[in-house]
Amino acid sequence: MEKTGVAIVGMGTVGAGVARLLLDHGDRTARHAGRTLWLTHAVVRDLEKARDVELPEGVLTDDLQRVIDDPEVSVVVQLIGGIEPAKSIMLQLLESGKDVVTANKALLAQHGPELFDRARELGRSIAFEASVAGGIPIIANISQCLSANQIESLQGILNGTCNFIVSKMDAEGADYSVTVAEAQQLGYAEADPTMDVDGTDAAQKLAILAHLAFGARVDWSQIPRRGIDGLQAVDFKYAKHLGYRIKLIALARLTESGLALDVSPMLVKIGQPLAEVRANYNAVGVVGDAVGPVFFQGQGAGQMPTASAVVADLIDTAVGRTSITFETLELWAKGHERVGLADV
Ligand code: NDP
Ligand code: HSE
Repeated sequence: MEKTGVAIVGMGTVGAGVARLLLDHGDRTARHAGRTLWLTHAVVRDLEKARDVELPEGVLTDDLQRVIDDPEVSVVVQLIGGIEPAKSIMLQLLESGKDVVTANKALLAQHGPELFDRARELGRSIAFEASVAGGIPIIANISQCLSANQIESLQGILNGTCNFIVSKMDAEGADYSVTVAEAQQLGYAEADPTMDVDGTDAAQKLAILAHLAFGARVDWSQIPRRGIDGLQAVDFKYAKHLGYRIKLIALARLTESGLALDVSPMLVKIGQPLAEVRANYNAVGVVGDAVGPVFFQGQGAGQMPTASAVVADLIDTAVGRTSITFETLELWAKGHERVGLADV
C-alpha cells in the first residue's frame, strides 16, 4: 500500500491524540485514504517532557527543519496554540510545499485571510475542521452540506471549558476556581484559560463560523463579548428559580442592517436544546432558509474528539479531497464584499 508521510508539530493534548489514532488505528486511515498515513516526525520544544503517547524510536524531535527537509512528508499537523511561533511555522511549512491541518482557531481568527491567501498562491491547503467545536463536524456541514442555503442565524455553545464550568456550577453548586482547574486537567482549557473564560475563544470561533456561513470577514476582537468569569453561585440559583439555565452563547444573526454578532452568558429556558447540552459537550444550532433549523452537538474539546476531526482532515488532505478548503479560501478572500456588520 502507498504511504503518505505525516508530521505533527506540537505534541500536547491534541497532538498526542492524533498520534494515537495514527499509530493504533492505521487500518481506519488506510480504509478511508486508500494509503497508509505514516507518522514520521513529532516536533516538540522539550524532548525530556513526558508524553501522553508512546512514539516509535526516532519520531520525537525538537528540530522542525527535519520536517521541512523531508520530501516524504507532504502533510503536517500544526498543533501549537497561540499566534507566534505558530504563524511563522505554518508559513514555513506552506513555503516548503507541505499541506497543513490545524486546530488553532486563535491563529485563523487573527490571520486567516493572510494564511489562506498564501496557501492558495503556493497551491497548498489548510484544513481546520478541529478549530471550531472540536469533534463536531461543523465546518464541513456549514461549508458543504448546507451550501444550498442562505444561513439566517447560528447560535452555539462553542467553548467547552465554559460549558463545563457553568454546567457544574448549575448542577452541583461547584466552586468556580475548582471547576476551572478540573477543565484544565481534562485538557479542555487553553494554555492560558483566561482566553476561555473571558469569551475570547468563543468569539474567535464565532468569527470563523460567521466567515463560512455569511461570507463576512469579521475581526473577532470587534465582536461584543462577555465571559463567565463574573458569574456567581447566586446567579445560577436565581436563574433556576425562574426556569432558566445560564450558558455562554455565541450568536450570529442576519438583520436588515447586516450581521449581528455577540458572545455572552445568556438565560436559556430549561428544556430548550441549548439549555440541555451536557457539561462536556458543545452545540451549534443553524437556521438555513431552505433546510430550516438543524442542531449539532457532541464533544467540542478534549484529546480524542479533537483528534477525530484532525485525522479526518488529514485523510482528506492526503487524498486531495481539499475542495471544501479551497471553496472556503474563496469565501475568506471575498467575504468582506458580501455582508457588512450590523451596529449592535
Ligand atoms: P497544548 O498546550 O497541550 O500543546 C501544545 C504543544 O505545542 C506542546 O506540546 C508544546 O510543546 C508545543 N509547542 C509549543 N511551542 C512549540 C514550538 N516552538 N515548537 C514545537 N512545539 C511547540 O495544546 P493543545 O494540544 O490543547 O492545543 C493545541 C491547539 O489545538 C491549540 O491551538 C488549541 O487552541 C487547539 N484546540 C485544542 C483543543 C483541546 O481540547 N485541547 C480543542 C480544539 C482545538 P512542549 O510539550 O514541548 O512544551
Ligand atoms: N479551550 C477550548 C474549549 C478548546 O474549551 O472549548 C476547544 O477549542
